Amino acid sequence: MAQKSESPTNGNDFLLSSGGGDSLGLPRLQGTIGPDVVDIRRLYSDLGCFTYDPGFVATASCASRLTYIDGEEGILLHRGYPIQQLAENSTFTEVAFLLLNGELPSARELSDFENALKRYSMIHDQLTRLFSGFRRDAHPMAIMVGVIGALSAFYHDSLDIDDPRHRMVASYRLIAKMPTIAAMAYKYSIGQPFMYPRNALSYAENFLHMMFGVPTEEYEVNPVLAKAIDRIFILHADHEQNASTSTVRLAGSSGANPFACIAAGIACLWGPAHGGANEAVLAMLGEIGSVENIPQFIDRAKDRDDPFRLMGFGHRVYKNYDPRAAVLRESAHAVLKELGVGNEPLLELAMELERIALNDEYFVERKLFPNVDFYSGIIFRAMGIPVSMFTVMFALARTVGWIAQWKEMIEDPDQRIGRPRQLYTGPTERDYTPIDRRS
Ligand code: SDX
Repeated sequence: MAQKSESPTNGNDFLLSSGGGDSLGLPRLQGTIGPDVVDIRRLYSDLGCFTYDPGFVATASCASRLTYIDGEEGILLHRGYPIQQLAENSTFTEVAFLLLNGELPSARELSDFENALKRYSMIHDQLTRLFSGFRRDAHPMAIMVGVIGALSAFYHDSLDIDDPRHRMVASYRLIAKMPTIAAMAYKYSIGQPFMYPRNALSYAENFLHMMFGVPTEEYEVNPVLAKAIDRIFILHADHEQNASTSTVRLAGSSGANPFACIAAGIACLWGPAHGGANEAVLAMLGEIGSVENIPQFIDRAKDRDDPFRLMGFGHRVYKNYDPRAAVLRESAHAVLKELGVGNEPLLELAMELERIALNDEYFVERKLFPNVDFYSGIIFRAMGIPVSMFTVMFALARTVGWIAQWKEMIEDPDQRIGRPRQLYTGPTERDYTPIDRRS
């Protein structure tokens, strides 16, 4: 990749003509890699018009140093490190440190960071009572939105977003407490007692202990499953300005506290077009049922009049294989083999669906490849994690990216409250008609 300057710099301007004789030179800003951007901040004041980009397909909302995606090449870098190398060699807490601080930690820095997270991994005991207000069959994502938002009612000493120490403590608290609260949501749904975190365990081991351990006996963590969970968390950690990360940034731009911002990100991630897709993939595979039924579902996915889409396929940015899906595909085989379910019918169905879809003109033409959600659900299900917890797993891991992006936004001198404009297509001005004169 051609390296450019470290920060956005003005290159040659773009020239915009309004068609009515006016024209405007707009600065070209260049990053270190990836597409240049047109700086349109003077567009309305100078030409009196807005840009129009529903869904922000071609709009950069910020400058960021955290993550870079090349959708055509299937490249994903976190602070410059390829996701494949991080998934192979790193750990989730090390990647969290990297995203928060910009560099890989020394052994001492990593040990201090992990110990700090352990100290924050318990929750205020009174918060446990909040769970009893939910129905036992509440979707765990509903509980996560509620409980994470409620953290701001308990931790008043880390709400001042202008205080760097408050920002750091709030970041550590959120990263540390997400596994504890996620496991509590699961335990509550099955009527088992909450499990306290154990400081002797790693981040991923602790999560499995809190999810599947019981107070009556020692829980033996399976190292293969712990490694797989840690790798899945790494793969879900951050992903540029996706819908939920943009939600966190927009909420944070108003000065809302970080707990409220992460709760907003959880709410957005829940949608089936986003993080809810991993749960939807399992539902879809269940609906397809057998390899023989695949062609009819492929036909439905291609039918514009049918709302059915192949869940786990397609991506706004990746027009090549999602590099995370490639790593997860490998992990899926390893985990299922370790659990002695290597010929799990669901995995076989998923592999056959992938094979057929990747050879179908419609999917090839539109570059619809499997994304991160296609394989994660199969691994989670094999581990005994209920389908309703799949998006909670995604939210748990993405909290690292959300909070790192939130911190970068707060510390960005260019940052202002987010307030998009619109193309108005409603009625022009008209007078009120009293009800007795309306037809
Ligand atoms: C995540 O942004 C991120 O980075 C997200 C994420 C992250 O880490 O944060 O990567 C995580 O959200 C992954 C995506 C998970 N969602 C799904 O798997 C749901 C199924 N996928 C689709 O809903 C869709 O592909 C999206 C939402 C992912 C992307 O939507 P876009 O970019 O708006 O794509 P589009 O709707 O413009 O589709 C272009 C064409 C359309 O057909 P035409 O109008 O050209 O005829 O492709 C078709 C779409 O109908 N299409 C699909 C399809 N996805 C797109 N057709 C069938 N099945 C699909 N899955």
